[in-house]
Amino acid sequence: MADQHPKPLAGKVALVTGGAKRLGKAAGLALAKAGADVAITFLASAKEAQQTAKQIENLGVRALAVPCDVTDPKSVRAAIAAVVRKFSGLDILINSAGRYETVAFDQLSLQQWDTIFATNVRGPFLVSKEALPHLRKRMGRIINLGSLGGVRPWASHAHYCSSKAALHMLTKVMAKALAPAIAVNCVAPGMIDLGEKAAADFMKRMAKQTPMQRNGTAADVSAATLFFASAPHFITGHILVVDGGLGL
Ligand SMILES: NC(=O)c1ccc[n+]([C@@H]2O[C@H](COP(=O)([O-])OP(=O)(O)OC[C@H]3O[C@@H](n4cnc5c(N)ncnc54)[C@H](OP(=O)(O)O)[C@@H]3O)[C@@H](O)[C@H]2O)c1
Repeated sequence: MADQHPKPLAGKVALVTGGAKRLGKAAGLALAKAGADVAITFLASAKEAQQTAKQIENLGVRALAVPCDVTDPKSVRAAIAAVVRKFSGLDILINSAGRYETVAFDQLSLQQWDTIFATNVRGPFLVSKEALPHLRKRMGRIINLGSLGGVRPWASHAHYCSSKAALHMLTKVMAKALAPAIAVNCVAPGMIDLGEKAAADFMKRMAKQTPMQRNGTAADVSAATLFFASAPHFITGHILVVDGGLGL
C-alpha cells in the first residue's frame, strides 16, 4: 500500500542548531526527507555546514546554513532573524548543539562546568526564547537533544549529566509554560555509534551491556526526532530515551 504521507513535513520550516555534523546533520537530513525546509547553525564547522546544506537542497527542499554561538544572545538573535527572513517563519526548532566532555570529578574545573552549562542549558533556553514569537504563530514545536546521561549518573561526567538533567527539566517546564501554542519534547540518546575509530573498543563493550545487543545509530536518534516533529501536537513534555534499554 502506498504511503499516504510520504512528506509529512511539506511546507514546514525547521531549524537545527549544531546541524553541520553528526546527529544534528542526521536530524536535518531526516527533516528534509520528510519535506521540511531546513536551516542549520554552525559554530566552527563552516565548511561542513555548507556541505550539509547542499545535501539538504539535493533532497528537493530549501536550505540555509547560518553561524550561531548558542551561548551568545546577539548571535542567537541574528541567526533566528536570518532564518525567518529567508523562510518567512519557523515551525520546528531542534536544539541539538551541545558539548560533551569526560573529566574525573576531582579534576572538574569551574570553567569546564560553566562552559558545559552555557552550551547545553543556557543555549537551548536562549534559542527557544528567541524563536518563541515565530513558533507561536505557527503552533510550532521544540525538540531538545538531552541524554541518557541526564537520567543516569556517569561518574566522570558530573557537569555533562547535570546539564542534560537540567535540559530535561527545562523541556517539561517549557511544555507547560508554552502550551497550548508550542509542543516541547526531548530526545535523550544513549550510546550512539557514529563510527569513530578511537571509540571502537568501548563501543563493542557497551553493545554487550545493552539489552538490544547493539549501540544506537544516528538513524535511531533521527527517527525519534522526526516522531516529535510530526506527532500529534497534543504530545508534549516527554523525554524519549533512545538507548536500546541500556538505562534499564
Ligand atoms: N552523539 C552521542 O552519542 C550523543 C549521546 C547523547 C546525547 N547527545 C546529544 O545530542 C546532541 C547532538 O549530538 P552530537 O554528538 O551531534 O553533538 P556534538 O558533535 O558534540 O556537538 C554538535 C555541535 O554543537 C555545536 N556547538 C558546540 N558548542 C556550540 C556553541 N556554543 N554554539 C553553537 N553550536 C555549538 C558544534 O558545532 P560546530 O561543529 O559548528 O562548532 C557541534 O558540531 C548534543 O546535544 C549531544 O549532547 C549525543
